[in-house]
Amino acid sequence: MQINPFIISGYVSERYFCGREKETQELIQEITDGNNVAIIATRRMGKSDLIRHVFNQSEICASYYTFYVDIYATRTLREFVYLLSKEIVDELKPQGQKSISRFWNYIKSIQAGVSFGPTGEPSFNLQLGDLQQPETTLDEIFKYLQTADKPCIVAIDEFQQTALYPEKNIEAILRTYIQKCSNAKFIFAGSQRHLMGQMFTSASRPFYQSVSIMNIGPIDIDKYKTFAVHHFEDVGKKLDTETVDKVFAVCHNITWYVQKMFSILYSRTSRGETCRPDMVMPTLAYILSTLDYTYKETLFRMPKKQKEVFVAIAKEGEAKNITSGSFVKKYKLPSPSTVQAAVKGLLENDYLTHELGVYTVYDLFLGYWIQRNY
Ligand SMILES: Nc1ncnc2c1ncn2[C@@H]1O[C@H](COP(=O)(O)OP(=O)(O)O)[C@@H](O)[C@H]1O
Ligand SMILES: [Mg+2]
Repeated sequence: MQINPFIISGYVSERYFCGREKETQELIQEITDGNNVAIIATRRMGKSDLIRHVFNQSEICASYYTFYVDIYATRTLREFVYLLSKEIVDELKPQGQKSISRFWNYIKSIQAGVSFGPTGEPSFNLQLGDLQQPETTLDEIFKYLQTADKPCIVAIDEFQQTALYPEKNIEAILRTYIQKCSNAKFIFAGSQRHLMGQMFTSASRPFYQSVSIMNIGPIDIDKYKTFAVHHFEDVGKKLDTETVDKVFAVCHNITWYVQKMFSILYSRTSRGETCRPDMVMPTLAYILSTLDYTYKETLFRMPKKQKEVFVAIAKEGEAKNITSGSFVKKYKLPSPSTVQAAVKGLLENDYLTHELGVYTVYDLFLGYWIQRNY
C-alpha cells in the first residue's frame, strides 16, 4: 500500500525525513565529542524528529545504547524516573538477556516490577506504584548508565517540565549525576524558549554552561522543494514549487503545519495533475473545518476572561503592548489588569507564546480558526 509520504506524527524513516543534514551532523559531532546538548526551538519545528533521526544513524545506533523519553506529561520526579526506567527496559529487552540482566542487577528499588518465567527469563510489568523511592531509583539508574557495556545517549524531550516539578532541587540533582556520568551523554530538548533558555543560560542555574546549545530553525525551503517534488513525482503527480513558497508563508515555516498542509495537498492532487498555489487556501480552510469541534471545545473550556483576551490576541496576530489602553479599547477588554492576569494563565497553559514583547497564539491553526470564526 502507498502511504502518504508527508508524515504528521513522528519519525518513520530516512525516506520521509527532509533535510536537516547540517543539524544531524552537528548533533552527532557534539555527542561523539562527549558534550551534552540542549536543543531549543519552537514547538512542532522538528526537535523530537531530529533526535529520532540521529538515533537512527548507523554511527549512533551501532555504538551506543540510545534512550528517549518525552516528559511533557510528567508532573513529578516519580513519573520522570518511571518513564526513564520503562524506556531503558524497553530498549534493552530486544538486546538480549545479558543487557537487561545487567540493568536489572542495579535497580534494586523496583524489583517488584519484575517476575521470572519458568526458565528464569524476566518479564517486566513496571507500574508507577512500584516506584516508592524515586531518588533511590534515579541513583541506581545513573550507576547502571555508568557501567553499561556500551556508551549511552539519553534524550530527555520537553525537559523544561522538570522546572515545574514540585520537588525543588531536581535541576541540581540531575546536574550532579550527569556531570559524574562519563559513560552517558544527554540531549535535552525543549519548546518553551523562555524556560529552556533560563535553565541553560542563566548563571544562577545548575545547568549553566554545562551543555552545547543548538537552536533549530525551519527546514531549508529548497531542500523541502526537492523533497516534496520527489514524493509527488514518485506517484506520477506534479508539484509547482511556488506551492511550497505559499505553504511555508502560511505556516510561518513551522514543520508540522507544512507537513499537515502537504499531506492534504498530496491526496487532493490526482495522478497526472499538478498541485498549484491556488490549492493552498482551500486546503487550509478544509483543515480548519476538520478542527472545528476541537477548537470549539478548547475555547469553551477556557475561563471567560482568558477567552476574551485570547481571541483578541489571535485577531491581532502578533500582539504588542497588550496591556496598553489602545489594545484594551480596540478589543473592548475590561482593563489592563485583567489582560495581565489572563495572559499569565494562557502562557502557563501553553496557549500563547511570548517572545521579545510579542504575543502569539501557540497553535497557528487555532489562530487562523479564530480569525475566521470570531
Ligand atoms: N525533517 C523533517 N522532515 C519531515 N517531517 C518532519 C521533519 N521534522 C519534523 N517533521 C514533522 O513535523 C512534526 C513535528 O516535529 P517534531 O519533531 O515532533 O517537533 P517538535 O519536537 O519540535 O515539537 C513531526 O511529527 C513530523 O511529522
Ligand atoms: Mg517534540
